[in-house]
Amino acid sequence: MIASAPGKIILFGEHAVVYGRRALVSAIDLRCKVEVRKSVDFRINSPLGTTNLDFKVHPYVSYAIRRFQEIQSLKGAEISIESEIPIASGLGSSSAVTVATLKALSEEFNVNLSDQEIFEIARKVELDVQGRGSGIDPFISTFGGSWIFPDKKKVDLSLELFVIKLWERATKVMVEKVANLRQRYPEIVDKIFDAIDAITLRAVEPGLQMEELIYLNQSLLRAIGVSSAKIDDLVAKLEKEGFFVKITGAGGGGCVFGLFKGKKPENSFLVRTNAEGVRIEDS
Ligand code: PMV
Repeated sequence: MIASAPGKIILFGEHAVVYGRRALVSAIDLRCKVEVRKSVDFRINSPLGTTNLDFKVHPYVSYAIRRFQEIQSLKGAEISIESEIPIASGLGSSSAVTVATLKALSEEFNVNLSDQEIFEIARKVELDVQGRGSGIDPFISTFGGSWIFPDKKKVDLSLELFVIKLWERATKVMVEKVANLRQRYPEIVDKIFDAIDAITLRAVEPGLQMEELIYLNQSLLRAIGVSSAKIDDLVAKLEKEGFFVKITGAGGGGCVFGLFKGKKPENSFLVRTNAEGVRIEDS
């Protein structure tokens, strides 16, 4: 059985969403495809290598199998992963592989999990691996479309964005960095989160000034320490060329994006928002 799930882009609200503020998120047209076949033992094949259950090389898939076994015991499965989503870059590759694995397992072993059940298990897997998180990634990868999260308010947001991939980084490290800053300056950092929440709400108003909101949110992400000197230099250079960009996801690397208006910066690629959620693919 083959299932696929989309990556995502957080337009506004990353980090603040870990503390109950709202984020605007959309599924993008880059997908992760997972094939599951019944077998006598476990084997996971991906661009990262071939392993058994391996919580270091394939943490998300291994925890997904472990969590699935709480519902249905399995002797084994052969899992093969192909992904268009760059890894460790804030575009949701970890959740996409988790969600697609759960969907393919569910169909291959006739468990027929609903999307809501897949989301709830993927959420547990995210916490197994990362220890902390808002659940926004498993949510969007399962349901697709565009949403205000955690309100679960669906919005219609069909955009073309340019994305520049920087370098890989760990979400967990960046989330902990923000948690440390907040511990030292709770009354300041919480106000920044409130401002980010307000940006998210303005972003879904008709006639939005998306680029001004991108500028404001990037400035606040810088304030909470998830930009870097290199990212700041890039943001300034792009602004001179007339492009407004912000980090998407945990920051410290990963990706930046901006609104595509017919011209894109060097070394960027285009994505479309509002993609379909998890689905079964023809074999
Ligand atoms: O894993 P990333 O880079 O897409 O980051 C997810 C967004 C955060 O707000 C930083 C963390 C979370 O769980 O919401």
